[in-house]
Amino acid sequence: MTSTINHPLNRKLRMALIGGGGEGFFGRVHALAAGLDQRAELVAGAFSSDPEKSRLAAAAFGVAAPRGYGSYRELIEIEARLPPERRVDFITIATPNHTHFEIAQAALKAGFHVVCEKPLTNDLDQAHELARSVARSGTVFVLAHGYSGYPLVRQAREMIAAGELGQVHAVRVAYLQGGLWGIDPGQPASRAAWKADPAKAGPSGTLADIGTHAFHLLRFTTGLKPQAISATLARFHAARPLDDYGHVVLRCGGGELATITVSQVTHGRLNDLSLEVDGNRGSLQWRQIEPDRLVVRRHSQPVQIHERNRRTAYSDTVRAACRLPGGHPEGVLEALANVYGDGFDAMIRHASGSSADAGPVIHPTVADGVEGVYFVQLCLTSHGELGTWKPWQLPSRGRQHDQ
Ligand SMILES: NC(=O)c1ccc[n+]([C@@H]2O[C@H](COP(=O)([O-])OP(=O)(O)OC[C@H]3O[C@@H](n4cnc5c(N)ncnc54)[C@H](O)[C@@H]3O)[C@@H](O)[C@H]2O)c1
Repeated sequence: MTSTINHPLNRKLRMALIGGGGEGFFGRVHALAAGLDQRAELVAGAFSSDPEKSRLAAAAFGVAAPRGYGSYRELIEIEARLPPERRVDFITIATPNHTHFEIAQAALKAGFHVVCEKPLTNDLDQAHELARSVARSGTVFVLAHGYSGYPLVRQAREMIAAGELGQVHAVRVAYLQGGLWGIDPGQPASRAAWKADPAKAGPSGTLADIGTHAFHLLRFTTGLKPQAISATLARFHAARPLDDYGHVVLRCGGGELATITVSQVTHGRLNDLSLEVDGNRGSLQWRQIEPDRLVVRRHSQPVQIHERNRRTAYSDTVRAACRLPGGHPEGVLEALANVYGDGFDAMIRHASGSSADAGPVIHPTVADGVEGVYFVQLCLTSHGELGTWKPWQLPSRGRQHDQ
């Protein structure tokens, strides 16, 4: 990602990673994505809840032994005491859901910028509390909804805002996976066993895990504000005790209708995230399995296929989100790196003394995290009442979030 802002620090930002040790999945993805553009380097971490495993993982991540900490508490305490020219700038949290709140609170209290995994928390009060902590600290908080970093997702957002589809009236988001069929209910999961424990995963399974991504994609691209939600969830596989399938219908403020379908029990579907938006002048379609194509259709006209291509980019923002010439595939790492890039710009603004949100805030924030947790809670309530419509009552958000 090409940054256009001045860099008063003239150095890489220093990253600490919590999680990612051993078999840990997404921590490693964070380490790769954060470093992709040479704007940050991983210099510290608490990679596991087990101090010994954390220290072992430090070596695998190329982190010098003294900064491979035994716990996140130790990391925050010691890093906060280091002189500014050594201490980490930001802390990435890629640990099981139930730990996000306590780690993020400790990091914010110590004055660090935070990049946090979704769902923000398992509990709405905690989500609100984190939002208050971010406001108090004035630091940057990035929520890791990486799909919002795809160039053509950003283009879809811009095309919709520019009215290219006319008046939007319907949106369909689906996020389909089939991975649960790979888990034998009789056997402990080899990785992410915590996802089978509601005390750790939270009160929802698939909806919290991938439905929060789908909901953010809907909000990010269309800016539509839900007015009421009806949800029906199901559990079709015995691998986990929580929902693994669900349909959500959202009635939005201007009469628009949106649906979100989530599944982790659809054989053979591999992170099949799709977005379809209908307007009165056109419709668009994007799928993560072909992230470099955005299809736009208009009645009685040939289908338009927009490709990710720096030369023909729709706007400077979209161009800045591309690294390679068209035809060389870019994917989920680059998308997450774009979200990091937005966060880095905000961190640099912060370091130059201006407010972190003084410039354009395109990366998902703590407010998106609160919305995601509220979305899950409202869906669970609706489902518990046989799909009853529940009004969306979260207060309106600041200027950068609503289009
Ligand atoms: N944004 C995305 O697309 C995406 C994709 C996958 C996972 N996630 C999220 O990332 C988080 C982690 O998921 P995962 O699939 O990597 O899980 P995982 O079980 O594969 O990895 C969790 C890691 O956290 C470590 N850990 C656990 N408790 C810790 C603690 N107290 N201190 C330090 N390290 C600790 C474990 O050792 C492990 O390395 C979850 O919140 C999940 O929802 C997001």
